Amino acid sequence: MVKAAVFASGTGSNFDVIMNTEDLACEITLLVCDNPEAQVIQKANKYGVAVFVFNPKDYPSKKAYEQQIVKKLQEAGISWIFLAGYMRIAGPVLLGAFENKIVNIHPSLLPAFPGKDAIGQAFKAGVKITGVTVHFIDEGIDTGPIIAQVPVTVLTGDTETELKERIQKTEHQLYPKVINQLIQAK
Ligand code: GAR
Repeated sequence: MVKAAVFASGTGSNFDVIMNTEDLACEITLLVCDNPEAQVIQKANKYGVAVFVFNPKDYPSKKAYEQQIVKKLQEAGISWIFLAGYMRIAGPVLLGAFENKIVNIHPSLLPAFPGKDAIGQAFKAGVKITGVTVHFIDEGIDTGPIIAQVPVTVLTGDTETELKERIQKTEHQLYPKVINQLIQAK
């Protein structure tokens, strides 16, 4: 079976959902995490998924830590990378080694509200429709060819927390489906 890695920096609810998808078309065999304190690491341990955790400050450059990441990915025989709350911009080393094989999920209808706190940005802007985007990554912040989008309506009286819950629920439904479509299309 095709082997894939998830990259995450935080809670890992998307990682959890991917791991619990019974008909997933790939095997998640590695978690890459840039934050030693991230909750997602405990989740990976629970599932017996190998973890490569690194602190970017321990490396002289992005090039240096990405070379280390690519080494780990190649040793593990990884062919796809799914970013799930990985709050770091990929550089040429990673992008070059996994061309058209790195996918991200973002909690807005890109190109609207890229970057951090996309849900808060949309809420504060007062938009009536926001949503979720899955896209291939490039060297930009939440840019790159869009693969799938699902709108989420901002309801009258919604709190930011309620909106976040609905957006995350939408992410959890969408990401495993898109992962399977991508892998099965190859
Ligand atoms: C998700 O909402 C994901 O879309 C977002 O981080 C959250 C991680 O949640 N990613 C970005 O904002 C990328 N720019 P999780 O750790 O519970 O999966």
